[in-house]
Amino acid sequence: MSAPARGYHALRVAAVIDETPDARSFVFELPSELAPLYRYKAGQFLTFQVALPDETILRCYSLSSAPETDARPKVTVKRVEGGRGSNWFNDSLREGATIAVLPPAGLFVLRESSAPLCFFAGGSGITPVVSLIKSGLKTTKRRMRLIYANRDVRSVIFRAELDALEREHPDRLRVTHHLDDKSGFLEARQALALIAGFEDADFYLCGPAPFMEMVESMLVAAGTKRERIFIERFISLPSHQEVEAENTLAASEVAGQLHPSVVMIHLDGRTHRAPYCAGDTVLETARKAGLEPPFACEDGYCGSCAAKLVRGAVKMHKNEVFSPKEVEAGNILTCQSRPCSAELEVSYD
Ligand SMILES: Cc1cc2nc3c(=O)[nH]c(=O)nc-3n(C[C@H](O)[C@H](O)[C@H](O)COP(=O)(O)OP(=O)(O)OC[C@H]3O[C@@H](n4cnc5c(N)ncnc54)[C@H](O)[C@@H]3O)c2cc1C
Ligand code: FES
Repeated sequence: MSAPARGYHALRVAAVIDETPDARSFVFELPSELAPLYRYKAGQFLTFQVALPDETILRCYSLSSAPETDARPKVTVKRVEGGRGSNWFNDSLREGATIAVLPPAGLFVLRESSAPLCFFAGGSGITPVVSLIKSGLKTTKRRMRLIYANRDVRSVIFRAELDALEREHPDRLRVTHHLDDKSGFLEARQALALIAGFEDADFYLCGPAPFMEMVESMLVAAGTKRERIFIERFISLPSHQEVEAENTLAASEVAGQLHPSVVMIHLDGRTHRAPYCAGDTVLETARKAGLEPPFACEDGYCGSCAAKLVRGAVKMHKNEVFSPKEVEAGNILTCQSRPCSAELEVSYD
């Protein structure tokens, strides 16, 4: 592997585990000097730089390990038909190899609460969910329910681990497996019946888009408050060219608007005055000034570039992370934010 790009670290694959015929887990060795940077919360993900013969792509994979129960970070990758990254992981990433990785990110995590937990996972969507379950069982007293849908029994990832967790915590965890080849796709009325007794739970959804849309609509129709529904969408990150094209479009949206000549940026306990070029995002401004703020997707999706607005105003082009309430409280995605005020101050701290 050539030297990893700025912000990335070369991590060695300590073990490869066959989970199902089309999914493998990859356990990583973490040198002690990187341990603080790679501290994570259950439900977060890692971003990998995959060097294919003809291009380099970025792919996110959720941690299926939990910090409280697993000694080393582990991700689990399921093949997608025709997919570049997932098949490369399954076919080419071997024990002992190294790969460029970004530190953990993501907001699909447990919130401080004693409310019960209800998880809906489909296929590889079990990955962050099993992490949340392990962490929640270890660190809270919350009751949990998992509804896990798969094509067929051979596709069920972590079957043995889930069975063992259920056996160890019979009064706290109940798992229902739904197999499409036996019962057809899970329907809203079945999903509604399965949440009986968990109406006041926090709901975590991860799986194929139609599955999550069905569950989300069912929950909303059943009166669940939006702030109790947490969703992780497994998309592929855009290519560099796609990000650039999107940026050009977004910059035109703020053309002619008021903007500052410098942006005040708080990062790692220091304050920086970064010169501002019209059309740039706050993230671009920080990076052009030589700062190293966190970021991954540059697509308004992963949340790793999040910061707080201290003074001034920005226009956010895309935002798949923060609720309107959180935006109102000053949370911004710096990769998507362009200043629209004469002064601007933001804090990554
Ligand atoms: C936060 C997050 C966490 C994730 N966690 C996990 C996880 O734990 N486990 C997991 O398995 N996945 C996870 N994913 C999904 C993962 O990042 C990838 O999206 C997934 O592996 C597919 O990537 P790929 O490169 O294999 O497929 P891609 O190459 O992106 O292709 C996806 C699909 O598009 C089709 N396609 C590709 N290029 C073209 C084209 N030019 N024209 C037409 N069709 C095309 C392919 O045939 C394929 O069906 C996660 C995603 C996110 C954002
Ligand atoms: S870098 Fe992913 S949301 Fe900004």
